[in-house]
Amino acid sequence: MFAHSYLNLNCARAQLNFMFTGTSVKITISTDSKMTAKSTISYNLNEISSAFLMNGEVVNIVAYGSGHINDTFHVKTSEESDPDYLLQRINQYVFTDVPGLMKNIELVTAHVREKMVNSGDFDASKHMLTLIPTHQRQFYHEDAAGNYWRMYYFLPNTTSYDIVETAQQAYEGGKAFGEFQACLSDMDARLLVETIPDFHNIEKRIATLKKVVNENPAGRVTEVKEELDFIMEREQAMNAILNMGKSGLLPLRITHNDTKFSNVLLDVHDKAQCVIDLDTVMPGYVAYDFGDAIRSSANTAAEDEAELEKIDVNLEIFEAFTAGFLSETGDFLSDAEVDSLVLGALLFPYLMGVRFLTDYIDGDKYYKINTPKHNLQRAKAQFQLLKKLEYNYDAINKIVLAEANKMRVNSIKQAI
Ligand SMILES: Nc1ncnc2c1ncn2[C@@H]1O[C@H](COP(=O)(O)OP(=O)(O)O)[C@@H](O)[C@H]1O
Ligand SMILES: [Mg+2]
Repeated sequence: MFAHSYLNLNCARAQLNFMFTGTSVKITISTDSKMTAKSTISYNLNEISSAFLMNGEVVNIVAYGSGHINDTFHVKTSEESDPDYLLQRINQYVFTDVPGLMKNIELVTAHVREKMVNSGDFDASKHMLTLIPTHQRQFYHEDAAGNYWRMYYFLPNTTSYDIVETAQQAYEGGKAFGEFQACLSDMDARLLVETIPDFHNIEKRIATLKKVVNENPAGRVTEVKEELDFIMEREQAMNAILNMGKSGLLPLRITHNDTKFSNVLLDVHDKAQCVIDLDTVMPGYVAYDFGDAIRSSANTAAEDEAELEKIDVNLEIFEAFTAGFLSETGDFLSDAEVDSLVLGALLFPYLMGVRFLTDYIDGDKYYKINTPKHNLQRAKAQFQLLKKLEYNYDAINKIVLAEANKMRVNSIKQAI
């Protein structure tokens, strides 16, 4: 029911196996041909964490969470009065410019925190990640083997769910990503580097598809004619967001770009507490964050569902996420941006379908597959979701406009 981040960020054909001995961990990585082989690496987690300016005595370091991109560890300290920490090895296969990425995170977390504090939030460090500096006053540590590590305060009593189960959770997810967007609405997007260049650029994704179709390296082009026709019929329409951006109708904002539900920490009452996983925060259009969240949470079936009749739009989840998102953003998004949200919801299953199909035609070089036709199945499932979104176009558009208007009416009432 939910998209896993390895599919979305498409890194990891690497399989990680962990073996713990005290606080040192041996990680065996089986890589594919695209990755520099680093077969077995041993990390001394105690030594690595001591590079950071922590308070308290470390008693235990354990693997944590269900993230697919970075290697994440919970660093536990002995005293209640001292905070725990979250240690992460940053995935250098996916993110090649780690210093640039960390600078983005430093700027964004500082900006969001300042906005929260200025609006009277005295618990801002619970609501935004806090980077811990090293003894050299840097926000990342490079170990002897060239791996990059970072540390945050660990946020206790929080949960990240892989799957949205209730409309209330979807509302909270929308609110969290909306608030994140709102806090960054006055920050200059040009300050940030593109951690994955052209990540959501559909023109570039289509150009890559056409190149692979021409080369036909695995001899699979004839087999996927129906899917290629489906893509080409929509090629122009799917450039809408890019075109609106180029013509100045949509401002380039700072977007999260990995807005799946597991990237929001919920508190013990299932209320949104903190948006996490800031590696892909970079310049983008607001419709990208909205669209990817809808793709990954408002599908009634799995991202790679083989039985296409199970795939549909969960309108209740769609409405709840939209209500949460627009409750935080509706008062500052322009009319064109509000109109672009539904276009984003249509774009993301298309974009992911294009990427899965490209990889299938290319001979499955990019995504990890469980069956020989897994990438084709994923593409078909994404296109089915797109068909259902197209079928429900009027309904979802109405929901977006109604929620945006609610917010605007509220802010007018407050102003008079
Ligand atoms: N500051 C934090 N406090 C507590 N848990 C966290 C924190 N940051 C991340 N996590 C947990 O670690 C998991 C992986 O972190 P994330 O940054 O999303 O990595 P990935 O990119 O691998 O998905 C999250 O799903 C969440 O459960
Ligand atoms: Mg994550």
